[in-house]
Amino acid sequence: MCGIVGYTGNRRVVPVLLEGLRRLEYRGYDSAGLVYEYDNQLVKFRAAGKLINLEQAVDENIGVASHTGLGHTRWATHGAPTRDNAHPHSDCTGELVVVHNGIIENYGRLKEELLAEGHTFSSETDTEVLAHLIEKYLDDDLATAVRQALARVEGSYALGVFWVKEPHKLVAARNQSPLVMGVDDDACYIASDIPALLPFTRQVIFLDDNELVVLEQGTYSITNVADGREIKKEIRTIDWNPAMAEKGGFKHFMLKEIFEQPQAILNTISGRIVPDTGEIDLPEIGLSNDEIRDIERIALVACGTSWHAALVAKYWIEKWVGIPVDVDIASEFRYRRLLVSERVLTISISQSGETADTLAGIRLAASLGSKIVTICNVVGSTMTREADGVIYTHAGPEIGVASTKAFTSQLTALFMLTLYLGQERQTIEQETLKELGSALVDVAAVIDTILPRVQQQVQGLIERYYDSRDFLFVGRGLNFPIALEGALKLKEISYIHAEGYAAGELKHGPIALIDKDMPVMALVPKDAVYQKTVSNVEEIKARQGRLLLIGTEGDSHLATLTDDVLYLPEVHEELNPLLYTIPAQLLSYEIANRRGCDVDQPRNLAKSVTVE
Ligand code: M6R
Repeated sequence: MCGIVGYTGNRRVVPVLLEGLRRLEYRGYDSAGLVYEYDNQLVKFRAAGKLINLEQAVDENIGVASHTGLGHTRWATHGAPTRDNAHPHSDCTGELVVVHNGIIENYGRLKEELLAEGHTFSSETDTEVLAHLIEKYLDDDLATAVRQALARVEGSYALGVFWVKEPHKLVAARNQSPLVMGVDDDACYIASDIPALLPFTRQVIFLDDNELVVLEQGTYSITNVADGREIKKEIRTIDWNPAMAEKGGFKHFMLKEIFEQPQAILNTISGRIVPDTGEIDLPEIGLSNDEIRDIERIALVACGTSWHAALVAKYWIEKWVGIPVDVDIASEFRYRRLLVSERVLTISISQSGETADTLAGIRLAASLGSKIVTICNVVGSTMTREADGVIYTHAGPEIGVASTKAFTSQLTALFMLTLYLGQERQTIEQETLKELGSALVDVAAVIDTILPRVQQQVQGLIERYYDSRDFLFVGRGLNFPIALEGALKLKEISYIHAEGYAAGELKHGPIALIDKDMPVMALVPKDAVYQKTVSNVEEIKARQGRLLLIGTEGDSHLATLTDDVLYLPEVHEELNPLLYTIPAQLLSYEIANRRGCDVDQPRNLAKSVTVE
């Protein structure tokens, strides 16, 4: 996720910006930039890659006598991670710059309008549109122009704006992307997150959505973006240490990322579902209508958690689109006789876009004539460069080795892909499209509401489970892959031996393992296979298995089977996989934490597996 730092005060600005950006490195980034005013001009430096590259570009200007500026680390979402796409982005005159975190959903339409009016663009980013839009409205007051521009913008943003004609002033605003202000006697700061401020001040103001702030050295005013109404806000004193601050107060990145899931899901949906009509817009898929109509089979290729997302997608695509779907672990796919041809669409799913086996798999499929689409979280990664089309998940950087928000974002992207294929092949009615699209948006809100409560309930349970030697996870239908994912999460971070099974498969062997010492997490939502799953649960109970049930609120029958039941709200049945992932993630996290494991960097594992 991008990082923003802004400063206006008495210090020399460049070291402040660089130190702030260093403190935001944990957020993940692929390019960086900064800007300050000197001699009535904005001086801008940008570099692809790590901050050291930006420092080298700045070089001897580090001590320049300038006291106001903006810095940015970019996590690419629109356009590759190049110097030209790095922030700050300028208007046509170069007198106004913008740094931004978030996604401008209607940037395409705005860009067309601005191009028609004669604006010239020098990047592929959505952010640059903001610079030109503000330029369009700019007369003699920057804050007014920012307000007018934001009235035209759909999407999420935290932004900082700087204009050479008001050289000690910064304007910042927020909507759905984090932004915090720092205050000092003679200086003001803005930042995406608290760590950037801690070397300078512990006095902060958290900005809320639809707030705009004008900062000028030691003074500031906060107003409502839409109507300019003044807003009074409390200054808070932060007593976090730097490590706590990077994790946003969470003990581990994994926990932080679990809690970021509602936003990650919404970011992935952003701009792709038209709420009024339910229409799905996925132009980046890179397939013509004819190519979509001609698909005979889909091959989904992935590893680990991404493979579990693929397994869920098989249920969705086959049900709603009627195209047969094969799901392969990439390391198997590449070493068997592949019956793949031009009419088979190969889709790779990967958080990193660099997983060696998945990459080799799509190269092989491409060599056999298959079109390749990749679902990926990292813009510009190898897989995205080699694919014919890309559907980005916008989960933001995932730092914990155990994949959490990337997984639910992959499910989100795959569900939208299902709807898109159904729309293009006319296998899903308009009304159903609308219903399923809005159910997807709703599930993000539901997850947001339940996260703290489920964490607390899980914490209340783990004393009974944390020292288990083995663990089973079971589910049926759409929730069978979630059982696999739960088992993977637990084993990789707690080192407890765990297996996931289709509940109906138990009696074909694994039931022999059940006794009073075997914990079993069973996913039992009120869905089409509910009765079948309950029967499987009864079989476990009959053998004294230690049941931990996850079910639908109001299902009192589950409480007759065990004391340990976690209830989740009812959502659209198709979207249960997103919801039922949450307790499995939290159980794994809390058990690993209770066992004192290195949750974010489990032994023997790497975040990105770039070797076979
Ligand atoms: O980056 P990718 O999605 O291609 O990575 C695939 C797997 O290595 C990854 O999902 C792995 O299983 C995670 N550690 C699971 O939490």
